[in-house]
Amino acid sequence: MKKLYIKTFGCQMNVYDSERMADVLAPTGYVQTDAPEDADMVILNTCHIREKASEKVFSDLGRLRVLKKRAQEQQNRQMLIAVAGCVAQAEGEEITRRAPYVDMVVGPQTYHRLPELVARADPSARKSVVDTEFPQEVKFDFLPEEAVPRGPAAFLSVQEGCDKFCSFCVVPYTRGAEFSRPASQILAEARRLVASGTREITLLGQNVNAWHGQADNNDGTWGLGRLLRELAEIDGLDRLRYTTSHPLDMDEELMTAHRDIPVLMPYLHLPVQAGSDKILAAMNRRHKADDYRRIIERLRALRPDIALSGDFIVGFPGESDKDFADTIKLVSDIGYASAYSFKYSARPGTPASGAGEQIEEGVKSDRLAALQQLLDAQQLAFNKKCEGMTMPVLIEKQGGRDGQMTGRSPFMQSVYLAGDASWIGRIMELEITQARQNSLWSAPAVIPADTTANATTKGAA
Ligand code: 5AD
Ligand code: SF4
Repeated sequence: MKKLYIKTFGCQMNVYDSERMADVLAPTGYVQTDAPEDADMVILNTCHIREKASEKVFSDLGRLRVLKKRAQEQQNRQMLIAVAGCVAQAEGEEITRRAPYVDMVVGPQTYHRLPELVARADPSARKSVVDTEFPQEVKFDFLPEEAVPRGPAAFLSVQEGCDKFCSFCVVPYTRGAEFSRPASQILAEARRLVASGTREITLLGQNVNAWHGQADNNDGTWGLGRLLRELAEIDGLDRLRYTTSHPLDMDEELMTAHRDIPVLMPYLHLPVQAGSDKILAAMNRRHKADDYRRIIERLRALRPDIALSGDFIVGFPGESDKDFADTIKLVSDIGYASAYSFKYSARPGTPASGAGEQIEEGVKSDRLAALQQLLDAQQLAFNKKCEGMTMPVLIEKQGGRDGQMTGRSPFMQSVYLAGDASWIGRIMELEITQARQNSLWSAPAVIPADTTANATTKGAA
């Protein structure tokens, strides 16, 4: 038995990929560990989306180099180091140059070949084996069907890559062209997950709502809305979510899915990035702020309690005070339950990095602080409205303290409660007794027995 330690940076796609890397390596004898110092192989599954995320890889590699040396000198044990993910894809050569003690560099589309790379790696050679191809074959066809159980809430990748080419974003370059997995493969993976105890599945894709597939029974082409309807039929699958979506691909079938499918949770992450039409055009988003407003209006008509989340970039090249004010206005108009916001980070090879007037760091910081203040206030207000409500919570794992459990509300909030590990996997009707900035709390006295209830909440929204 060999020990495998995987550290995951970045998005949920990487979380899914890390799990699949563990699946690929399991038949070759690797079992996951939480302790990098004991590991026979360490994989850093990396993120290239912003400069800061990329830099972390090199500082982690410095620390791993010490562990590798120690294993070799003190225990006469080889430790393989692999860099996977989007930094591997974008900066493979730089990694092998700056960190020749890295044994393997593997991109997001080739990690199914890890066993082969392990066989080729030579820890004494001070040279990495690199595989950052965009291969003809599709990795999903080569991933083992027998997966390690993922627990009550699992990710399932349905779509990869991106053809949208937002002018700030590296994803179309690191993850490649848009690709949709066949519906039959997705349904089969979902059934396997449910059979192994999963109750909630989040469908993943860089542009998950661009997913489209040919139905097996000549039923034409399916979009994500149809796929969700089919998945909802799986017995034992109590909750569905999907992320991340693009406004351009929010079609009517997908929007009505939020009205029609009880197991589809009332939560949507729909990034808009900015509120100014000038900036949206410069970002190559190909929609206006009002198009986004109309989508939200329609969604709220179909599913009034839907919790909204988004991504925002401040300080995009050429962003004036007026443009930023438009973002603040849009956020105030929409009202988010949660959101992610970032300072624009110029990424090598993207059109925006060399264009327009780059915004000063201090201005970016001020704008980010102002936006986050507003988003935080909205999040707290949303959470506060949940106080006194009773809602179904899927218990996922132990919390940070003894006797504490944590799970998710239908609206994606983390909920903490007193309980024990045997409750993991239950969906419980919990009364929310306290709301905080980033979490909800349920007092122990009000915890009733298990229920399989899903979707809607009771009480005023
Ligand atoms: N700078 C800042 N934020 C970025 N994002 C993507 N690229 C950049 C960049 N160059 C943000 C977007 C996207 C999220 C995943 O990361 O908001 O939706
Ligand atoms: Fe990046 Fe835009 Fe594609 Fe999202 S839609 S992955 S932000 S290029």
